[in-house]
Amino acid sequence: MSADPDKMDLPSRSELFDFHGVPMIHYFTDNWENVQNFQARPDDILIATYPKAGTTWVSYILDLLYFGQTAPERQTSIPIYERVPFLESIKSAEETGVDQVNNLPTSPRLIKTHLPIQFVPKSFWEQNCRIVYVARNAKDNVVSYFHFERMTLTQPDPGDWSSYLHRFKEGKIVFGPWYDHVNGWWKKKQTYSNLHYMFFEDMVEDTGREIEKLCRFLGLSPSVEEKKQITSGVQFDNMKKNNMTNYSTVPVMDFKVSPFMRKGKVGDWKRHFTVAQSEEFDEDYKKKMKDPTLQFRTVV
Ligand code: A3P
Repeated sequence: MSADPDKMDLPSRSELFDFHGVPMIHYFTDNWENVQNFQARPDDILIATYPKAGTTWVSYILDLLYFGQTAPERQTSIPIYERVPFLESIKSAEETGVDQVNNLPTSPRLIKTHLPIQFVPKSFWEQNCRIVYVARNAKDNVVSYFHFERMTLTQPDPGDWSSYLHRFKEGKIVFGPWYDHVNGWWKKKQTYSNLHYMFFEDMVEDTGREIEKLCRFLGLSPSVEEKKQITSGVQFDNMKKNNMTNYSTVPVMDFKVSPFMRKGKVGDWKRHFTVAQSEEFDEDYKKKMKDPTLQFRTVV
């Protein structure tokens, strides 16, 4: 926040700095010891993503699956970012993401993180917690992240599109390289069986099918009617209208610049990348994404 009393309510943009080899901002590192010492419970569910891969979408689906029937009032009174706290974030001087998780009255606790694999608190592994990882193709992910940084006044200033794209390729953005993130988690999945790795593109293609898969992973068996209700409630237009899921209650986001629920599409990158930018991106991508078992779709 600004020191000038007249501007006390204007947030200031954060500076990126190197944090154990990953570019970060202080909002996500200032509570580090408590994050690393976080005590997970065996029934905790961690929702892990690179920023802008569909975190809110999957958080909302999980929240509805677990609490949609038993605690319907929470759907109209508690914003999704409070129902599913963001573990490493500092919400305010008084409250951190860790505090928020520890104060959750519900069980299981649904917990959001953007941490790359090497930073995940070890108690999640020790407790063998279920983890849902969502990945999104790099081109749509960078476009979404660019608009998010434009509208979120506490994020570093994204600059113009072409310099942002350059920085994305270099991994010089908050939470580091997309390439390392999606690969690191993908590799973990090979040895940690309680990890469900999902793709944003699959969710767009067939949300109902992906909810079915999630239910199998979580050991849930909602009724046909309930699944129908959830699939409809989590459609883009419904989430965009819903003040509890569209982030309209967050003061540091400037919706005049861009809405949080922006497009929700696969392939919006085509409206941003020039042909040359796309070709250069693809060349660089091939060099960084060597694992043939991890494939993304940039169209559906
Ligand atoms: P766009 O900026 O491309 O629209 P996160 O929750 O990880 O921050 O991701 C936000 C992105 O997911 C935004 O992408 C947002 O519109 C999209 N999204 C959120 N809910 C969605 C839904 N129900 N259907 C499609 N996209 C959704």
